[in-house]
Amino acid sequence: MARTLLAARGIRKEFPGTVALDNVSFELIEGEIHALMGENGAGKSTFLKIVTGALQPDAGEIQLAGRSVRLHSPVDARRMGVAIVHQELSLFPDISVMENILVGQAPTRAGFMRRRQMQEICERYLARFHVSFSPSELVKNLSVSQQQIVEIVKALVTDASVYIFDEPTSALSVEDASRLFDVLRELKSQGKGIIYVSHKFDEIFQLTDRITVLRDGALIGTVQTSRTSADDVIRMMVGRSIERIYPDKGNPEDQILLRVQNLNAGSKCRNVSFELRKGEILGVFGLVGSGRTEIMRAMTGVDPRTSGDIVLDGRPVRIHAVQDAIRHGVYYLTEDRKEQGLFLKMSIRDNVAVTHLDRLAKRGLLQRVRARELAEQVIRDLRVKAKDDEQLVGSLSGGNQQKVMIGKWVSRQPRVLILDEPTRGIDVGAKAEIHQLLRKLANEGIGIIVISSELPEIVGLSDRVLVVHNGTVAGVLSGSDMNDEIIMEYASGLHKEIAVG
Ligand SMILES: Nc1ncnc2c1ncn2[C@@H]1O[C@H](COP(=O)(O)OP(=O)(O)OP(=O)(O)O)[C@@H](O)[C@H]1O
Ligand SMILES: [Mg+2]
Repeated sequence: MARTLLAARGIRKEFPGTVALDNVSFELIEGEIHALMGENGAGKSTFLKIVTGALQPDAGEIQLAGRSVRLHSPVDARRMGVAIVHQELSLFPDISVMENILVGQAPTRAGFMRRRQMQEICERYLARFHVSFSPSELVKNLSVSQQQIVEIVKALVTDASVYIFDEPTSALSVEDASRLFDVLRELKSQGKGIIYVSHKFDEIFQLTDRITVLRDGALIGTVQTSRTSADDVIRMMVGRSIERIYPDKGNPEDQILLRVQNLNAGSKCRNVSFELRKGEILGVFGLVGSGRTEIMRAMTGVDPRTSGDIVLDGRPVRIHAVQDAIRHGVYYLTEDRKEQGLFLKMSIRDNVAVTHLDRLAKRGLLQRVRARELAEQVIRDLRVKAKDDEQLVGSLSGGNQQKVMIGKWVSRQPRVLILDEPTRGIDVGAKAEIHQLLRKLANEGIGIIVISSELPEIVGLSDRVLVVHNGTVAGVLSGSDMNDEIIMEYASGLHKEIAVG
């Protein structure tokens, strides 16, 4: 009989206006990878915070290795052998990778682990992810995906019996994700228990032994992964089945909305030229490090460029700073929620209002009413799960924060909308809704550029696909060329760079 490493019974947690968890029970046995699934706002992260001492439950019991425990803080949980990688990045930007990993490590059962020994383990794990940065690098100089790896390594170096991952792969490349899976399988074979949260069905079915589903804070059930299907899980998650199909392709007009010519900005953006038509969804695909993000940043004035022209509706425009782009109706939603200007300590209403500041400010008294209308519309259109528009964005679930971010920019009526990984961390149902929304916006004549590292999403959603390799355009694919294999060939540089118009 496998031992139970962690058990939770009858967990309840209420926030003002929301019952986040109601009578939830859960069990993790040794040598298992146990998925926790549910829609955005279902209560997954709240549950994990409770079993790691970051939040106190209102009712219920937690047992570790068969003994009932009270976790007063995350340090308690770590000392009892529970390590967690939270959904939101939480590293200290101004200290090194190594210091971040070593900071707050609990003493092991055998006493304090020697620092030297810890560093070795840490370096070994970093090497497994083939990182290009040194452990002495400051965290603020790392990309989002590199920071994600540091967060993961920080948990892995802990000598725990339970490892918890809350959407660890949302910022990882496919390669890094599969390196993580190898590590998780090793931990499993050593008899450790792993709780794994993800909205990605392929990962869940590749990796996990059992799946527990939450819906609106309630436990729906636990099933064996091998005896269940994605459709079954979706039904448990949302209480109905969801068409996991993409919206119909659009009919982009012939009119060129945006033309980018000979854009240059460092080694990750070299001689980039492409066009976006009115009403088109242009997918941008490239492997991690290919320069897809750098190209968009240079184009929208986030980063400086050395050369390049941008023509909007036939007229050359000067975009040298983010404000220029915004003035011309070109909005770029970066992959980093916090950098993007989601103000976590502000309400949904104020977050939406900030996006409209230049317009609302002129309207004096009217502005408060208008701000509320705009925010309520965002909540409605994107089905944000929130108490009301005065809820603080920081207290929304991760996926719902992402929806607010998309919604607040959409509500400003863009001409060109550029989204970097728009459905990261978004549940199946909401993902389909966002796809529908993007298609609707395109049909209204907006030009949309979607960067995604998920091939099915790129193929399913786009009218054409721009493939980036080595900082430049490797090809533009459409029609029957727009399939996984051909896209991957271009993305891995198997096709020589070709001239595109
Ligand atoms: N500190 C808080 N204050 C108020 N409400 C909160 C707080 N933290 C979470 N909630 C609410 O509790 C519910 C569950 O949130 P939780 O973050 O656990 O969801 P989740 O399942 O992790 O979702 P996601 O997939 O989007 O990450 C949500 O309705 C959320 O708004
Ligand atoms: Mg969450």
